[in-house]
Amino acid sequence: TTTSIPRDPAFDSTLALLREGYPFIWNRCQRFQSDLFQARLMGKRAICIHGREAAELFYDETRFQRRGAVPRRVLTSLFGKKGIQTLDGAAHRHRKAAFLSLMTPTSLDRLMIATAREWRRAVHAWEKMEAVVLFDEAERVLTRATCTWAGVPISDRELPRRARDFGLMVDAFGGVGPRLWKGKRARARAERWMAREIERARRGDAPTASASALHVMAHYRGPDGERLPARTAAVELLNVIRPTVAISWFITFAALALHEHPESREKLTCEDAGENAGAYADSFMQEVRRFYPFTPYLGAKVRSSFDWKGHHFKPGTLVLLDVYGANHDPQLWDAPESFRPERFDGWRGDAYGFIPQGGGPRATGHRCPGEWITMHNVALALHILTRCMVYEVAPGQDLRVDLRRMPTRPKSGFILRNVHATA
Ligand code: HEM
Repeated sequence: TTTSIPRDPAFDSTLALLREGYPFIWNRCQRFQSDLFQARLMGKRAICIHGREAAELFYDETRFQRRGAVPRRVLTSLFGKKGIQTLDGAAHRHRKAAFLSLMTPTSLDRLMIATAREWRRAVHAWEKMEAVVLFDEAERVLTRATCTWAGVPISDRELPRRARDFGLMVDAFGGVGPRLWKGKRARARAERWMAREIERARRGDAPTASASALHVMAHYRGPDGERLPARTAAVELLNVIRPTVAISWFITFAALALHEHPESREKLTCEDAGENAGAYADSFMQEVRRFYPFTPYLGAKVRSSFDWKGHHFKPGTLVLLDVYGANHDPQLWDAPESFRPERFDGWRGDAYGFIPQGGGPRATGHRCPGEWITMHNVALALHILTRCMVYEVAPGQDLRVDLRRMPTRPKSGFILRNVHATA
């Protein structure tokens, strides 16, 4: 029966979730000593689940669907309507292949070369600045490099506001009121811009590399042989560019980690070229993805009924999988509250135990197709921060990370001063 699992006593926990932020699910799992509990969210009964087994369950497509699972507020700010996040089955796999076609080694190389060039340019500009807000700068570096790579031209003049719009869409996901409205307006502007680019590519007005994200989304044909409506193609093009720019959140956390763990910084700087070159940087990058909060949880709806851990799941029920808690569970991680890159030395991957960008199989499930882009970009930023420049962390700034805010980051945005390029 449904009464056998713990129930959050609040009549409706939506506000508690937005107020408690990242640890909402994990707090209750610990309190109830249970990997699952029920709560009312947005007026409906929902089941929150946690742990490795829960992730395996969540990624079983025969039991869950995404259709109808994403709340309107998230569709109108973070994701966009009719995008890949809302598809199931064959339609989903077909469109997912288009995203994955952008992740070939050649394509990734092109992106990383463009991004490295922008970082170098930025570091030189920072030498002349009194204070550098790393988060804002990273957003611009990534916006210019990613748009160029994607085949979407961007002028110097529009760069700051376009970069800001990408950030606002992401910043809206855990917000209500003004923060949400800003994200919605940013999305409306960005979709109009991208839809114009899609139309332009379809007319053949501009030469676009056939492997570019613009080209792929403009000319993608669904299983029915039809092109996507321009607005939907724009949503999908944004689904490539926006999250790539959002890597600025992880990059800012990486800078914070370097600051708070000077011994790790030392190890990174001294790591030799040779057989194991970059191994410690890789571990450091993974630990950034584990330790710092970004995605709080994921949602799906029960597709066909089943029983799990003594609970009967009925079709249509909303289920939330804990992502933040999975990264901080002592059953999965030794001393989870310590930042320890070494834990990833020789690590072989775990599609259900380490899910900062979702889990399970990538081509058939909803797991993030952008993990390579993310890992390469965090590693590149670490390289820039430790080997291509010296800087001071400006004193007196507020570096606190508020777990109650989603998404979160060091409040000051991480301010550098006295920057000098060294390479
Ligand atoms: C899906 C996180 C970067 C594109 C996802 C999911 C998460 C996630 C949690 C959902 C998994 C699920 O629903 O089961 C992140 C984080 C990133 C990041 C934290 C770091 C900034 C990227 C990048 C791209 C990208 C660089 C560029 C292509 C997507 C797309 C989906 C997705 C298209 C939807 C996949 C689907 O529904 O099949 N991401 N991601 N993400 N991500 Fe990322």
